[in-house]
Amino acid sequence: MRVLFVCLGNICRSPSAQGVFEKLLAADELAGSIKVDSAGTADYHIGKPPDRRAITAASRRGVDISMLSARRVADSDFAEFDLILAADHDNLQELMRRAPADCAAKLRLFMSYAPDDGEEIPDPYYGGEQGFEDVLDMLERASQGLLASLREHPQSPLVS
Ligand code: 4NP
Repeated sequence: MRVLFVCLGNICRSPSAQGVFEKLLAADELAGSIKVDSAGTADYHIGKPPDRRAITAASRRGVDISMLSARRVADSDFAEFDLILAADHDNLQELMRRAPADCAAKLRLFMSYAPDDGEEIPDPYYGGEQGFEDVLDMLERASQGLLASLREHPQSPLVS
C-alpha cells in the first residue's frame, strides 16, 4: 500500500500529514508494508523544506519533518500510489483533473478518515501559529482513522 498526501504548496499540511502518519505507523506492524510520501499541486515552493512554523509545531509532538523537501505532484504518482489523499476540495479537484482516465489510485479527502472534524484541513499558511496546532490535531485523528482502515481492509482502506 502506497499513500500520498497532497496539499497546495507541500510545505504545511501534506508534509505534516506525512510526518504524523509515519510516526503513528512506526509503532505498528503494518509499518514495513506501507510507503508514505507527500506532494503539492502547485509549484511555488519546490525543493524547499516545510514552513518553519510547521516544523516547530510538529517537533513539539515528536515529529521531525525538517528533512522533507517540497515537490509537485507528478503524472507518475497516479500509477505509483494506491491512495492519494487531498487536504481540501480544491486540491482533490485538481488531482481529479490531472488523473489519467485509467487511474488506478483512489483519490479521497484525508479528512474522510475523521469525518467529525469536517471535510477540509484549513490552509494555515496565511494565519497564526494556532492554525498549525489545529492542523496537527486534525491530522492525528485522521491518521488514526486511516490506520484503522488499513488494518481492517489492507487492500481497500476506503470509507464511504
Ligand atoms: P500548504 O500551505 O498547501 O498546506 O503547503 C500553503 C503553502 C504555501 C502557499 C499556500 C498554502 N502559498 O500560497 O505560497
